[in-house]
Amino acid sequence: MRVLVTGSSGWLGRHFAARLRQDGHRVTGLDLAAGPETQVVGSVADRRAVERAFAFGADAVVHAAGLHQPDLVRTRLQNFVDINVSGTLALLEAAKAAQCSAFVMTSTTSLMIDRAIREERGDAAVWLDESHAPLNPRNIYGTTKLAAEGLVRLFAQEHGLPGVVLRTSRFFPEDDDRPTALLSGPNIKANEFLNRRLSVEDAVEAHLAALSHAQQIGFGLFIASAPPPFTRDEVADLKRDARAVIARHFPDAAELYARRGWQLPRSIGRVYDPSLAEATIGWRAKTDFAAVLEALRTDAPLPFVHDASYVSPKDR
Ligand SMILES: NC(=O)c1ccc[n+]([C@@H]2O[C@H](COP(=O)([O-])OP(=O)(O)OC[C@H]3O[C@@H](n4cnc5c(N)ncnc54)[C@H](O)[C@@H]3O)[C@@H](O)[C@H]2O)c1
Repeated sequence: MRVLVTGSSGWLGRHFAARLRQDGHRVTGLDLAAGPETQVVGSVADRRAVERAFAFGADAVVHAAGLHQPDLVRTRLQNFVDINVSGTLALLEAAKAAQCSAFVMTSTTSLMIDRAIREERGDAAVWLDESHAPLNPRNIYGTTKLAAEGLVRLFAQEHGLPGVVLRTSRFFPEDDDRPTALLSGPNIKANEFLNRRLSVEDAVEAHLAALSHAQQIGFGLFIASAPPPFTRDEVADLKRDARAVIARHFPDAAELYARRGWQLPRSIGRVYDPSLAEATIGWRAKTDFAAVLEALRTDAPLPFVHDASYVSPKDR
């Protein structure tokens, strides 16, 4: 299959493009920044660049390029609209004209987080699946990603272009833009595997599953995150005393953490539920919190990447 991958110099895009080539697909990478997986350097918001990329031939598009959370502090609002919304539209129109059999877009769980959820105002954790509504994204990143999701849905409905949207949770390797005092970067990431993170390898596999199921399902929107060990009826306990809930599921977690000088979260305010993706496109993340604990137990390398020095290629 000939696949156009946008954002091919980025963290997800470069892993995804390499994986596709490994499987024998022909890949064209389109990115603002040069990179080993990128053949066309240009913007998705520039229709001539999109045309140049499609000239290589494309049976499917995986659209991972975009401005995201870290860009909020350094980019004008208009750029978010131009790149995340107009750029997605330019790609959809080109994909329709090329009669592509799949259009997969990387979206974000962040668009489900309104201010109340972010500030953890409730007295229970919020259990988030694809039915969560109303959606009130709290910034231009989420607002433009939500608009782009709508465009993918529209092209599936109106033009029969099979589309899959993946609302992925965190997989970035760098430090959090709002680091938690006292906790190390790896400790923060390990904790997030409980409720709001996945490995970049699992993100790649989710995109592969989306690509191979798009035609069959016509349109789908899924949360992509590591499966949480919790159940919905634990939401109040998670907010009140997350450590007690974690101990129920993983009796040795506290001890394993203590050996590293790590800390478990005291309270958890939200949980992403990826079970619809498993039921519909057969994708389930391999790396979960149990895998993190197993690495601690056996002194194996951690099953996720932490690289505090990572900088998005377009910002270098
Ligand atoms: N990193 C995360 O934790 C995370 C979480 C949820 C969703 N996402 C989404 O995943 C996607 C990939 O993110 P990433 O972590 O690989 O980020 P990244 O910054 O490493 O990669 C994004 C790539 O997109 C490119 N890009 C930006 N604007 C472009 C444009 N106008 N035209 C062409 N290329 C452009 C950048 O140069 C970069 O190489 C993004 O759409 C992001 O919103 C990321």
